[in-house]
Amino acid sequence: MLQPIIIALDFESKENVQAFLTPFEGEQLFLKVGMELFYQEGPELIRILKEQGHAIFLDLKLHDIPNTVHKAMAGLAKLDVDLVNVHAMGGIEMMERAVQGLEEGSRSHRPKCIAVTQLTSSSKKMMNEEILIPGSIEHSVSNLAENAQSAGLDGVVCSPLEVPLIKEDCGSDFLSVTPGIRLLSDEKNDQTRVTTPGKAKELGSDHIVVGRTITRSNNPVRTYRNIQNEWGITYETTGR
Ligand code: C5P
Repeated sequence: MLQPIIIALDFESKENVQAFLTPFEGEQLFLKVGMELFYQEGPELIRILKEQGHAIFLDLKLHDIPNTVHKAMAGLAKLDVDLVNVHAMGGIEMMERAVQGLEEGSRSHRPKCIAVTQLTSSSKKMMNEEILIPGSIEHSVSNLAENAQSAGLDGVVCSPLEVPLIKEDCGSDFLSVTPGIRLLSDEKNDQTRVTTPGKAKELGSDHIVVGRTITRSNNPVRTYRNIQNEWGITYETTGR
């Protein structure tokens, strides 16, 4: 069973990752490796983290012509990751080919594939006035989520605030993975649409993605435990 809390490893090197993971030793986590880290450390780091027993969300947000995404996904599937993603803005055909690529490349189970709808850093003003998509963020998110579902994807990345809408449109089994999570004591940084872990659960998120709140904490393990508590997971303490 995958953990509901995904820790975003937004670090620049594998040394920084290992330093961060040391206090969690012995625990199997669900870790997100994004562009910053993957472009530096590549597939080798994924192999190391898998060997340590962690589940991996490889967050590379693919967006290219269908043929390129198909081939890229066949390659990523060989890394035996658990979750990958594409931008729904790439269109239905691109998303269908992404899933095909994952099926062709995977050795045992196909990694789940989710789509980014509107980034949680996007605002309505930016969407309407810069990229010229009219209407509300919710309308765009809903449309992109329906496209992702019709292409055979397993879910979407979205703001927790959008989860009820997505579950209503696409059904409760369609995964909602939600970044934009902050504790009440945190700053928002560059995220514009944020909620607490407890609120995200209440809204129906299947997994929350938490980065800076944990990675920049003075005590990452304690912050992770606080978030687990908010989610309703009790952890048997071992003196940590
Ligand atoms: O530090 P913070 O908790 O804001 O990190 C959120 C993580 O989730 C980052 O790694 C960011 O790239 C990712 N993400 C996001 N919004 C999306 C998809 C992914 O913030 N729509």
